[in-house]
Amino acid sequence: MTFEENITKAARIIKDGGVVAFPTETVYGLGAGVFNTEAIEKIFRIKERPFFDPLIVHISDIEQLHLLVKNVDENLLKLAEKFWPGPLTIVTEKKESVSDLVTANLPTVAVRMPNHRAALELIKKAGTPIAAPSANKFGKLSPTNARHVLKQLNNVDFIIDDGNTSVGIESTVISLNSEGFKILRPGAITMQELAAVVPYSDSLFSTHNKGLQSPGLLKSHYSPRVPLYILGKHQVNTSGKKTGLLTFGTEKEKNTDFVTENLSASGNLNEAAANLYNSLHKLEESGVDLILAEPLPETGIGIAIMDRLRKAAAENGEVAGIHE
Ligand code: TXA
Ligand code: MG
Repeated sequence: MTFEENITKAARIIKDGGVVAFPTETVYGLGAGVFNTEAIEKIFRIKERPFFDPLIVHISDIEQLHLLVKNVDENLLKLAEKFWPGPLTIVTEKKESVSDLVTANLPTVAVRMPNHRAALELIKKAGTPIAAPSANKFGKLSPTNARHVLKQLNNVDFIIDDGNTSVGIESTVISLNSEGFKILRPGAITMQELAAVVPYSDSLFSTHNKGLQSPGLLKSHYSPRVPLYILGKHQVNTSGKKTGLLTFGTEKEKNTDFVTENLSASGNLNEAAANLYNSLHKLEESGVDLILAEPLPETGIGIAIMDRLRKAAAENGEVAGIHE
């Protein structure tokens, strides 16, 4: 099938109330028409996602904001102009017409315009904004290619396979109102880049999303099937265990006892983000009993990488050291 044929078929399925996995620049999404409640329910079922965790709505055109958002104000337009299409999700007050199922009963909706030809063409051809979480089982590793999607999910009506994603890590999620923004989930677009466009506002949560700030941002998330520990001051006993090692930068000495995945031998954080989930998928598939992850510098996208590693490690304590 050609690219166009794939898009046409996928758009038909969305129009008919089906569910399609598709690539974005960050990770693959599992999408359905935002105004088709039955199709949205299928997403939750396939992912085994709890209904308290709201979905991101993907658009292909700024005009579609008016279908979803109550006030398309100046801050929103400034951010959209600067960062869309791109890995930025904006949470703001929703329109009544957006189902409570999509937003988990919150008064807000999360919107983003992905920077990927397949995603944009799909939304255009389907003629509707597409609600889509990442195309993985709830709490597990995110997919950065079609194989990762197939590994975890059955019952998806169709997958658009367009290779590996380029950014490799989920979008930056921010909450926005007329006062400014606050980061709910770090991603490729950083605090500094955002603050250059709209003011940072710490007071934001007095007005919306009382309780859980962002319900999907549970402490434990993005986890491989085996325990993951971040290398640090505490000790993990690796004796008698097949150990996976996630490294970054030049390796001082190769330890052949370990199954090693290097996120970026040249120490490039963008490359590390692009490789993160694929490396973790490979380590969990290699049959290791546990994974030790070297910490990365927390600058730029490194902040988002460490956020994901800490969440992957949450059940196992925060830090570890090799003790044989
Ligand atoms: O890069 C991405 O954002 C990918 C691609 C497919 O676009 N999507 C993604 O979706 O990562 P998901 O569902 O895995 O993560 C969405 C996050 C969740 O943590 C969710 O709680 C949060 O966005 N979110 C969605 N709607 C929200 C809302 N109204 N208020 C606060 N947080 C919200
Ligand atoms: Mg996800």
